[in-house]
Amino acid sequence: MKPFVPSYDEAVSAITKADSTPVYFTNENHLHHKVDLLKSTFGNRVKIFYAMKANYNIGILNALKNAGIDGLDTVAPYEVLLGKKIGFKAKDILFTGNSCSTDEINFVHDQGVILNIGSISELRRFGENHKGASCALRLNVDIGAGECDFVVTGGEDTKFGISDKDHDEALKIINNHNLKIIGIHAHIGSGFYEKDSFIAGIQGVLERTLKFSNQLDFVNFGGGFGIRYNTHKDPINIGDWAKSALPIMNDFAATQSDDFHYRFEPGKFLVGESTCLLTKITMIKPERKTIFIGTDTGFNHLIRPALYQSYHEIINLTAIAQNRDTTNNLTVVGNVCESGDIFANNIPMPEPRESDILAIISAGAYGQSMSTIYQLRPPAAEIMMMKNGSISVTKTRKSFDELYAFIQ
Ligand SMILES: Cc1ncc(COP(=O)(O)O)c(C=O)c1O
Repeated sequence: MKPFVPSYDEAVSAITKADSTPVYFTNENHLHHKVDLLKSTFGNRVKIFYAMKANYNIGILNALKNAGIDGLDTVAPYEVLLGKKIGFKAKDILFTGNSCSTDEINFVHDQGVILNIGSISELRRFGENHKGASCALRLNVDIGAGECDFVVTGGEDTKFGISDKDHDEALKIINNHNLKIIGIHAHIGSGFYEKDSFIAGIQGVLERTLKFSNQLDFVNFGGGFGIRYNTHKDPINIGDWAKSALPIMNDFAATQSDDFHYRFEPGKFLVGESTCLLTKITMIKPERKTIFIGTDTGFNHLIRPALYQSYHEIINLTAIAQNRDTTNNLTVVGNVCESGDIFANNIPMPEPRESDILAIISAGAYGQSMSTIYQLRPPAAEIMMMKNGSISVTKTRKSFDELYAFIQ
């Protein structure tokens, strides 16, 4: 399935429902398709724990729940609380915090949620405070991959996961405090496209697993499946990845109990392509080398291009609907008072005009969830096109009074 690009009419309906732009516009069908795809590809032994850091919109969480995800991967205490609020049981929530304070560790443990612990420091404090408790271990299996350096989470010198050099120390703590290791986990990075990295990650985890326990409830291979930010590229061939992975996974599973299961915890793969950010052109400013196309959104709503120099295709829905000819050398920028507020440099687009509707595609992961109220602009409204075609508001745009309450 290609990333969601609404028709001009669908975009107008979404904007009308939200009163104005900017709007994160999600296609519920897309969410269901991605869950179905992972489940049918990897089979019953694999559970899908959605990494809700990618997008915690309540409509999206409910849609994924209805689509059949098995649980949530959380990274912060309030994510745990939100997961519970929308109906996930503690046993179906995993907490993969990092750099956790002891208070945070205790809070999550008291919620009945299993902690997935990725450093000696946190493991020691967990053991001291919760002798005999169950937990999972996040390992660094010395393999990293991802869309850009900032999102690689495995390999040499990373803050994530217990490295090989620390295994003996981890085992000492586990024995001293009688901890029960029920799961082993590694997440090598976010947005990778090579089957080889995926398989190496799986092998890396399985090779290290038995050191810690031979009676596990689960092995968790993390998330990170790459998505497309461009409608011209084919999706990764997940079926081919599974063909290589499943024999390795099945061999290991045969050594475990019948209740043993695997987990993936994708964020991006489930939600990234389901959503675009709709914005309107508010300014056209020809300069010497480029024509700036100003919009009514910015890096306060979608920070990935400014933070990671990431690419998102930008489609002028109005100009396409009107069959306009192409203009080259356009730089699409936001309305934040910062010169780094750029969505795309020197791109072509059918001739832009003020008030045209643009769709910034594949903005469903790490868009909404990383947005801020910098310069006191409210977050974008969030709208979903439901499976039955109706349009529903999943998050309203906040008023000044609501922002004022938040900042006090
Ligand atoms: C521990 C963990 N699990 C899962 C994810 C989700 O990654 P992605 O959204 O690329 O699937 C992340 C994100 O980096 C992560 O840190």
